Amino acid sequence: MADLDDLRDGMNFGVGVSSVSQDFHVKGAAHQPWGMKDRLSRIFNPNTGKTVMLAFDHGFIMGPTSGLERIDLNIVPLVEYADCLMCTRGILQAIIPPNTNKPVCLRSDAGTSILTELNDNVLMDIEDAIRLNVSAMAIMLSIGDPLYEAKTVANLYRAVDLGSRHNIPVMGVTAVGKQMARDARYFGLATRICAENGANIVKSYYCEGFENVAAACPVPIVIAGGKKLPEKEALEMCYNAINDGAAGVDMGRNVFQSTSPAAMIQAVHAVVHDGLTPEQGFELFNDLKK
Ligand code: 5RP
Repeated sequence: MADLDDLRDGMNFGVGVSSVSQDFHVKGAAHQPWGMKDRLSRIFNPNTGKTVMLAFDHGFIMGPTSGLERIDLNIVPLVEYADCLMCTRGILQAIIPPNTNKPVCLRSDAGTSILTELNDNVLMDIEDAIRLNVSAMAIMLSIGDPLYEAKTVANLYRAVDLGSRHNIPVMGVTAVGKQMARDARYFGLATRICAENGANIVKSYYCEGFENVAAACPVPIVIAGGKKLPEKEALEMCYNAINDGAAGVDMGRNVFQSTSPAAMIQAVHAVVHDGLTPEQGFELFNDLKK
């Protein structure tokens, strides 16, 4: 029995005051259940609606590429500046300290080194995603590829079915094959296919006309950085993407291959969350790298 000593009757019921409506800060997620929203809120900052994800999953098909030779030395020191980590389960379990308490967007499909960027229909067991307490699962799609489109859409579909049973969001990652044009028409198609097949987040590339791509995608888009650019150009790309409707970045090489990765991720963070211009971001980068 509860302690009844000095139990005071409630008096302040706000009768006549309508309930406070709670808009949700992640695009397309207003009708999702609580667990899904909780996970999305760990990825997308509720104050800004944006995210800076640090992608270091490249090794799963490319091996120890530049900047990822020693994840313990090169990536772990950056973790504190990232809003979310995107990596494979092997690296997560072997190297990322569990007490960093960062949300993880786990690469949950498999690839091959022979056809880099093209995945077969292999999907991680959902129980492993639960066991690792991930905040999202990432699945790559090869839209427009005659051999792999159907298989990778099937991967996404299955991941969404499994993820929604446990309120784990799925991020569709648009891989661009060499034969595909990196334009708004292609990314408009690829991002929309991801969203319509149930992805809660879509990862794409920035391109001319991106505002139409972002507007037509009913869930948040985060942009990949792509090949290493000079820092100022990479910050310009982040700034333009955010202005054109991206909900953040999921960046790898432009951070970990920078001359100062810690300064770069902090500058990216300031552009994404605080609206710094590319010039201000670059100034911050130069100050921090000293
Ligand atoms: C493709 C990915 C990578 O994580 C992605 O390309 C991000 O890295 P970068 O910014 O280096 O392009 O999802 O496997």
